[in-house]
Amino acid sequence: MDDLRQKYIDAIAGAADEAALEDLRVAALGKKGEISLQMRELGRMTPEDRQVMGPKLNALKDEINAALAARKAALGDAALEERLRAEWLDVTLPGRPRPRGTIHPVSQVTEEITAIFADMGFAVAEGPQIESDWFNFDALNIPPEHPARQEHDTFFMSRAAGDDRAPHVLRTHTSPVQIRAMQAQGAPIRVIAPGRVYRCDYDQTHTPMFHQVEGLAIDRDISMANLKWVLEEFCRAFFEVDGVELRFRASHFPFTEPSAEVDIRCSWEGGALKIGEGNDWMEILGSGMVHPKVLAAGGIDPDEWQGFAFGMGIDRLAMLKYGIPDLRAFFDSDLRWLRHYGFSALDMPTLHGGLSR
Ligand code: PHE
Repeated sequence: MDDLRQKYIDAIAGAADEAALEDLRVAALGKKGEISLQMRELGRMTPEDRQVMGPKLNALKDEINAALAARKAALGDAALEERLRAEWLDVTLPGRPRPRGTIHPVSQVTEEITAIFADMGFAVAEGPQIESDWFNFDALNIPPEHPARQEHDTFFMSRAAGDDRAPHVLRTHTSPVQIRAMQAQGAPIRVIAPGRVYRCDYDQTHTPMFHQVEGLAIDRDISMANLKWVLEEFCRAFFEVDGVELRFRASHFPFTEPSAEVDIRCSWEGGALKIGEGNDWMEILGSGMVHPKVLAAGGIDPDEWQGFAFGMGIDRLAMLKYGIPDLRAFFDSDLRWLRHYGFSALDMPTLHGGLSR
């Protein structure tokens, strides 16, 4: 029995891993293990022998179990030690700065606009960028043969061969969201709808994708005077400078009657764009009283309800407010440009905390 004991105690002490330990346990204490077999022999012994051998075997079994557990714990500790050594990290080393982005002026300005209109009771509505021609044109009183369809430089989606339904378009303005919002919410309604729009156009102040924010207010007695007040109030809050000067120009849109375009006084002197001074005017929005046919397309009774709508170029507003002379650079994904013109992620624009810092 001493040999048996010595054999297992030595083997356990030398076991390299948990698998080896398990093999040893089975060899000694498993169903057909050496010690288990000896314990089975007890039944055939004389009572005197059994009284001697029984406790000895039990003690051996306990000793081996204890040795197995101790070795297992030791192996675990060694593995942990090894891992701690391998994964050691000096947390006192200075960090390495990574290239960091900033909030894009378009995102910043969208947040600013949303904060200002939210304060005037406007909720945010959304619509798809791939739009049916009905929502983008027909519902807005622009029938198929209307010249405005050509003026919009529309991008058309392609249809499968043989499918001769009118193609969907990349929405050319956010105005289709007027229809979607009216259909979804009915009247009265007060929403803005910021988002991407697309037109085939490219120069210093035009890119094929740009951003607009639509505004829509429908109630029983909303007038052009309300529209003018809301837009002036908005510009005063948005530009955060004294002496913002607006010019309302009579205009025409199929979906509003009457209609007005609004320009803002600015200067381009020395290649820098400044507002509130100079002798140039930059168009920033189109607006007007919602056409009765548009109300009807939105499921709203034009004999009972009326209101105004406007559509503003978000990128234009960003250029004017932050003096960014070229629109194309907005979409070049140049980190140096973004570091210069971008905003801190931690400064959320609010009316009370300041729109921009
Ligand atoms: N959708 C028009 C455009 O893109 C702007 C507009 C919106 C005009 C709402 C009037 C009313 O030019």
